[in-house]
Amino acid sequence: MTVIDAGVTGALRIAPSILAADFGRLSHELELVEEETDWLHLDVMDGHFVPNVSLGPPVVASLRRYSTKFFDCHLMMSEPGRYLDAFARAGANSCTVHVEVGNTWELIRQARELGVRIGLAANPDAPFAVIEPFLEAVDLVLLMTVFPGFGGQSFMSEVLDKVSQVRREVDRRGVALDIEVDGGIDTTTAPLAVRAGANVLVAGSAIFSRSDSRSAAAALRSSARDALE
Ligand code: DX5
Ligand code: ZN
Repeated sequence: MTVIDAGVTGALRIAPSILAADFGRLSHELELVEEETDWLHLDVMDGHFVPNVSLGPPVVASLRRYSTKFFDCHLMMSEPGRYLDAFARAGANSCTVHVEVGNTWELIRQARELGVRIGLAANPDAPFAVIEPFLEAVDLVLLMTVFPGFGGQSFMSEVLDKVSQVRREVDRRGVALDIEVDGGIDTTTAPLAVRAGANVLVAGSAIFSRSDSRSAAAALRSSARDALE
């Protein structure tokens, strides 16, 4: 069995979001960006928490047969607790739930029991205070830089302060936590997010809506690396 490694916590990670990919040939799309990316970000939308429907456990299970990437599942769902088990079985390595849906401690408990990593996502208007109690209990914090539901929206730079706040607090407490940003990430906004303290960059349109997704992923990675220097 292949051991799927998340890599070192806090290291720079490029996580392409397949939401912008051609769903008719997903495995081919993944192959194109294989070398230039690290994790795979899978956007799950339930048509209730967000006004859009995307994919569920069967798609995750199918992709698992074609990829050894770390599967970072972003559950934009009102009742993620009903599906954590199905995502874990399908091959998710990490499940990120939204703080807005509540029941966070119970969801963390469930994910631990299932042996998957757990992330906590917060919409752009969620204050730092709602995430703060969970910083030592989760593996990842996902700070949305757009309101979730659709790809191709513009990056909200006002979220950068919250990214810095989380980074400062994580460093002060010395906790191992990945800080992920999602929404409108491209070669212009990735450096801003990295400088603010993010280390996992999700990008859909900036990778899969380009004619050469492999080069687009490489350009994104190098713009983020440059920001670290
Ligand atoms: C938004 C999703 C994102 C989205 C990002 O609801 O969570 O992951 O696919 O897409 P871009 O990079 O196009 O903003
Ligand atoms: Zn996402």
